[in-house]
Amino acid sequence: MQRYDVHQIRSRYPALSEGGLLDGAVDLDGPAGTQVPASVVEAMAEVHRRGIGNLGGGFPPSDAAEEITAAARSAVADLFNAGPDEIAFGQNMTSLTFAVSRALARTWEPGDEVVVTLLDHDANVAPWRLAAADRGVTVRTVPFDPSTGVLDPADVAAVVGPRTRLVAVTHASNVLGTIPDVAAIVRIAHDAGALAYVDAVHYTPHGIVDVAALDCDFLVASAYKFYGPHIGALYGKAELLEALDAYKVVPAPDEGPEKWETGTQSFESLAGVRAAVDHLASLAGGATRRDRITASQGIVRDHESALIGRFLEGARSIPGLRVYGITDPDMLHRRAPTFSVGLEGVAPQDAVAVMRPLGINVRSGHHYAVGVMGHLGLLEGGGLIRVGFVQYTSPEDVDRTLEALASAAG
Ligand SMILES: Cc1ncc(COP(=O)(O)O)c(C=O)c1O
Repeated sequence: MQRYDVHQIRSRYPALSEGGLLDGAVDLDGPAGTQVPASVVEAMAEVHRRGIGNLGGGFPPSDAAEEITAAARSAVADLFNAGPDEIAFGQNMTSLTFAVSRALARTWEPGDEVVVTLLDHDANVAPWRLAAADRGVTVRTVPFDPSTGVLDPADVAAVVGPRTRLVAVTHASNVLGTIPDVAAIVRIAHDAGALAYVDAVHYTPHGIVDVAALDCDFLVASAYKFYGPHIGALYGKAELLEALDAYKVVPAPDEGPEKWETGTQSFESLAGVRAAVDHLASLAGGATRRDRITASQGIVRDHESALIGRFLEGARSIPGLRVYGITDPDMLHRRAPTFSVGLEGVAPQDAVAVMRPLGINVRSGHHYAVGVMGHLGLLEGGGLIRVGFVQYTSPEDVDRTLEALASAAG
């Protein structure tokens, strides 16, 4: 399939089809978790249908666990443009980030500095703040421009210095949709001798993740945001994953990505991750899976760009509607199809209460992006309504969203 057919895509998702919880609804909550295609459901069910054991047993169900794990590592390596020995799995992005932050903090000295941003989800802020507090390390915080949602690399450069050990930055904001210039920020970190840790949780369903091009040291994503199961994936440069001491039990492997994988992994989720990556690769042809992923994601990007344009156009005629983040037509390539909006004189939770009975699956609040909401001065007022479009959002969904927002505006 080269041309994007959103209705064909939607038909792959049981939750959006007859009998599913989102049948007939408009799902705007993809940024909090997407639905999964039937291929992912099947891959996960198949693990238990066939039988599964734990690693290292040397009998068929154990061999199956080994194969599933290796296949998942290779799939996510293709997704990130990394090597399989650079991919570790964990419960979610937050748990993985806490694990890496504790391991890295052991190498920090009092007086060192770490850099976080106000644009980030708290999962890429709190672990660094807590690790810094444990080690007497100073935290520097980079603001974004509240009128545009843009994070300027120059503002990162302004706080990075000779004592900086790490810069933690998001690949895309889960509330404003901003896609910062991460490659530039990684260069700034490296020029100062610091490491760069990238949160790609929100970016992954919308763009082409490329750790080689970014040259980041770590990158994290969560499969449940890219049409997969509830599991997180960590990329780390092989030499870093090898050199750092992970918090682990004594008998667990001392080498390779396995040393970062505490306890027994969810093998059904690992099978689901592989299926989710294959789903992401399934919309276009190409010689390798990586080629198919990049071509497919390019097609999705075009579809989502059209949705961005349609939404912004329609939003202009809704009285009192304010769209936060990038709206400048020349800058739209720097945003994901995720909008946070407010309605003048209407509390976000009241707007949501009007929209839900109209079949709109939507939520309001801070969405764990407390730095963003605090910087916008909206933390106390109930945050914002989040409108998240994904690969299965249709143009009709956008129109229904606009109609529901117009109703909520009164
Ligand atoms: C941008 C971003 N980063 C991190 C997280 C945390 O991910 P997880 O739930 O996998 O810990 C989320 C979850 O909403 C997110 O949107």
